[in-house]
Amino acid sequence: MNNFYYYTPTKVVFGKNSELETGRLVAGFGGKRVLLHFGGASAKKSGLLDKVCASLKEAGLSFVELGGVVPNPRLSKVREGIALCEKEGVDFILAIGGGSVIDSAKAIGFGLFNKGDVWDFYSKKREPKGSIPAACVLTIAATGSEMSDSSVITNEEGALKRGCNSDYSRLKFAIMNPELTFTLPWFQKASGAADIIMHTLERWFDNERKSSELTDAISVSVIKTVMQNIIKIKKEPSNYDAAAELMWAGSLSHNGLTNCGGSPGRGGDWACHQLEHELGGMFDVAHGAGLCAVWGSWARFVSKENPWRFAALARELFSVNANEAEAAKLCIEKFEAFFVSIDMPVNISGLGVSLSKEQIKELAWKCSFFGTRKPGAYRPLDIADMETIFSMAK
Ligand code: NZQ
Ligand code: ZN
Repeated sequence: MNNFYYYTPTKVVFGKNSELETGRLVAGFGGKRVLLHFGGASAKKSGLLDKVCASLKEAGLSFVELGGVVPNPRLSKVREGIALCEKEGVDFILAIGGGSVIDSAKAIGFGLFNKGDVWDFYSKKREPKGSIPAACVLTIAATGSEMSDSSVITNEEGALKRGCNSDYSRLKFAIMNPELTFTLPWFQKASGAADIIMHTLERWFDNERKSSELTDAISVSVIKTVMQNIIKIKKEPSNYDAAAELMWAGSLSHNGLTNCGGSPGRGGDWACHQLEHELGGMFDVAHGAGLCAVWGSWARFVSKENPWRFAALARELFSVNANEAEAAKLCIEKFEAFFVSIDMPVNISGLGVSLSKEQIKELAWKCSFFGTRKPGAYRPLDIADMETIFSMAK
């Protein structure tokens, strides 16, 4: 097993009615003047926003509101949030929503703490030196942003979706009441489940991960749990226990646990996420669905040269008993069949996007950060490789 860091400072408050503890928790972490940050309509419609406001008032806290965060959260909203917080003297940011709202909150935190342009952290010009405290009330099991060190923001100028990894963006606490996810449309539930699986898969595809039995077993367990429970949720949308399993899997899949003992640092491959981020930036697709649309093509492309982790997964997850090449092929087919079973696309046209040759070139060029990097670690991808994968995934 390789050496590793495992850092998960976020306090998790999990279960029914946990949102009622919001005010007490914010006060406990020193917040006095809070930004309530949320998305389009769901938090208001469900009554969650009112409950959180009441809890803050009960704890003697004052707050300002900023809604309107959209999926693939925009830089312009982040800038609006920074200006509002500066004007209002905000010292704590509370995200009420999913990955998009949480990521927007994290970016606002960077912008408040650090002088200069917040986009610098996403365009990799410099690293943040701190942030102001932030927390969330999670309403969707998906990105794991509630416990991750990441945030992903889309700059409307140039349609660039870019991530920033920093321990400063780890949340103080995450309130997770699985009941809050009942109101999600099925497509968002399925897209979230796919993203959870992908976070574990990205870490699984790691050439350095030669001996990490426990981490492998946890990874297989996370994937199995998501597969079983999203199918239950498809039949019974308000099944509390299934929603709870999914929500907890979302956090564990992206808090670093399924990388322990793998390659040092962030670990894993992450090429599919990088390919999807370009699709999200250019076509505003749902993140989990976008991942499903490219995963099979990426997997076919890289498994030809390097099938061993695919074969290992086929054996552990699907009990496949075959030679390496055949097991790898079956592994990919079984994942794609599963994505189809939860109504996820397995190609880009399934996202409602019809790619031209020029667009394929643009996607690959952007994903290479304009010719400066090769995404992926299990199999680094150059521009021609990415063009091939996007063409296969069309
Ligand atoms: O805006 P509202 O009305 O709230 O609607 C949202 C949104 O339309 C809706 N929704 C959320 N909770 C709901 C609900 N509708 C009804 N009931 C509820 N309880 O769901 C839609 C999608 O929300 P969003 O926050 O965009 O979903 P998700 O959590 O999948 O976040 C996706 C974003 O996170 C990024 C993705 O790239 C994407 O931008 N990611 C963030 C990561 C991180 N920070 O660690 C890692 C991921 O790999 C990912 O890249
Ligand atoms: Zn993801």
